[in-house]
Amino acid sequence: MSEQTPALNLAVIGGDGTGPEVTAEALKVLAAIARRDGFTYTTQHYDFGGQRYLDTGEILPPGAIEQLRRHDAIFLGAVGHPEVAPGILEKGLLLELRFQLDQYINLRPVKLYPGVETPLAGKGPADIDFVVVRENTEDLYCGVGGFLKKNTPDEVASQTAIYTRKGCERCIRWAFEYTRQRNNPKGKRLTLVAKTNVLTYGHDLWNRTFRDVAREYPDVEADYNHVDACCMWMIKNPEYYDVIVTTNMFGDIITDLGAMIQGGMGVAAGGNLNPDPGGCSMFEPMGGSAPKYTGLGVINPIAAISALAMLLEHSGFPASGQRVLDAVQKTTGSKMKSQAAGKMGYSTSQVGDLVVAALDQ
Ligand code: IPM
Ligand code: MN
Repeated sequence: MSEQTPALNLAVIGGDGTGPEVTAEALKVLAAIARRDGFTYTTQHYDFGGQRYLDTGEILPPGAIEQLRRHDAIFLGAVGHPEVAPGILEKGLLLELRFQLDQYINLRPVKLYPGVETPLAGKGPADIDFVVVRENTEDLYCGVGGFLKKNTPDEVASQTAIYTRKGCERCIRWAFEYTRQRNNPKGKRLTLVAKTNVLTYGHDLWNRTFRDVAREYPDVEADYNHVDACCMWMIKNPEYYDVIVTTNMFGDIITDLGAMIQGGMGVAAGGNLNPDPGGCSMFEPMGGSAPKYTGLGVINPIAAISALAMLLEHSGFPASGQRVLDAVQKTTGSKMKSQAAGKMGYSTSQVGDLVVAALDQ
């Protein structure tokens, strides 16, 4: 008897702290949706993260990237360990994977689910529903720079933002394509968020590229906001936005603002996409490893389950992804008391069960 090739071959990095707990709930939902929608999958677990680093001195062992690359997608719980200095795991794991796997899109839906509280007075789910497309491989994240006369009164430090035509063009084109397909009934609008009035070289390249690519998408409104103004509008008029495309550093900042207006880190999910044929993408809840909640069963798995919905959407199972997203929204809208850890009215695993039950409602 020949074995059936699984339709989806996943790498799972549960990671540190509460990462494995929220990952378990996402995998519970995956098992249920696969059964329901009739597809098969495999999971291969990798123990990368702070604990392995402390035990072995290694973050990603030799060959790890090549192994991960063979999977259709990666699910990442969280990395971050109280005994590991900040920056080490971020650089050695998260950024390393983004760069090595050329995950050049960081996709961050900013969507207020029903029943979820937003700090924005008078705004509801109809007002907060946009997507940020963040370039994910260039800018200040390249690690180009250095010190001169370090630890002296004359010290000089430089950190250089790198932008390439290829790097911004592939991101901008993907964002136009995404905006077209998202097909917002309020009108298709792609807003470039940058700082062309000050970053007159790097963001001039972005702006010119944006204008060039926009000509290929006459059905999409090509809009522009300075990043500081964008921060104001995201709070005052979030309903203005459909899709935002932006640089790596600005995208990092505005997506945390976005996470807060959509109800916080318990809810926000993101994808690091390599959309090229054969590319390996990685999906993660945005909250960190929250070590103080480890093992208590109080952490919110909604962000992790939303990350799973994104994984399905971008790995060839868009209908299943949508069904998971619908089930998440039924759960937040009709069951959960709060999205804050310990205040949900349910344990971590009960929230996973509620989403599973909602798949068929
Ligand atoms: C994110 C994170 C990372 C980033 C950190 C952990 C390096 O904040 O995914 O937004 O800055 O990109
Ligand atoms: Mn960030």
